[in-house]
Amino acid sequence: MQSELRTKLLEAFSNAEGEFVSGQKISEYIGCSRTAVWKHIEELRKDGYELEAVRRLGYRITKKPNKISSNEIQIGLKTKTLGRHVHFEETVTSTQKIAQTLAGNGAPEGTIVVADQQTNGRGRMAREWYSPSGTGIWMSLIIRPNIPVHSTPQLTLLTAVAIVQAIEELTPVKPDIKWPNDILINGKKVVGILTELQAEADQVHSVIIGTGINVNQKVEDFPEELQQIATSIGIETGKHWERALFIQTILLKFEGLYSLYLSQGFHPIKLLWEGYAISLNKKMVARTLNGSVEGKAIGIDHNGVLLIETSDGSIKEIYSADIEL
Ligand code: BTN
Repeated sequence: MQSELRTKLLEAFSNAEGEFVSGQKISEYIGCSRTAVWKHIEELRKDGYELEAVRRLGYRITKKPNKISSNEIQIGLKTKTLGRHVHFEETVTSTQKIAQTLAGNGAPEGTIVVADQQTNGRGRMAREWYSPSGTGIWMSLIIRPNIPVHSTPQLTLLTAVAIVQAIEELTPVKPDIKWPNDILINGKKVVGILTELQAEADQVHSVIIGTGINVNQKVEDFPEELQQIATSIGIETGKHWERALFIQTILLKFEGLYSLYLSQGFHPIKLLWEGYAISLNKKMVARTLNGSVEGKAIGIDHNGVLLIETSDGSIKEIYSADIEL
């Protein structure tokens, strides 16, 4: 089936929001005969969609395949700009790498790069990010905010709030945020965020926000060394989740928060972030690339930098670290 036709067909089902759509309506919507509609429906079935057909009512999708694609992301997407350009590939080295190239070539704000699998997924502090196929969301978002370079860490915190809000909206779980960018459920990491910049002097050209979200992994899908510290939304809820719906919801939450941020600054985002943070007012060790700082986290400053009060009463600013509570 031509991809345009397929998009139209899936759109017809998405508009019906789970209700039946008659063969007649579909044929009018996509502009083909009733017999052709039947053939296209059969093709969807071959691709893993499950459809119910009832005489006089028509068809409805009862289950989508465990696949992610540009179509799945864009159909039903309610944002204005974010995700309006989708670059999807089955397998990539890292979506960050592709997004860097696209951003350098002028990709518009809101472009997302999504892959089903990454062979060289990157985490913070030059770590590897485990990104197997069919289970998670590996996505990089390109934005072009007009903000000074030193304010860009704020966007990591904004992203964490957007993802927590999306998880709360779609699932019964209540995630926590561990500064700066780890999202935890029941103490185990479920999301990681990696923010990278293209900037010159003090001008930001683009910010590339990479998010890795463990959605449908089972415990045994994680390498042994991760099983104690990582989890997935599926493990925590006992259910299988549709990845495209998460992407759509995250983009919508992000768009709302981003517009609030651009109009009112970081303060309202900081308040939301603090509401989810588990790392504040606690004793901790922050392991930075230049050594460890031990003390009590007393808050984040107006740039999203963590403030730790050490035993001698001095306040240390932590820009990047691993936190041990
Ligand atoms: C962390 O260390 O917590 C950050 C992990 C970020 C992983 C995501 S997955 C999509 C994007 N592409 C990458 O290579 N990394 C980020």
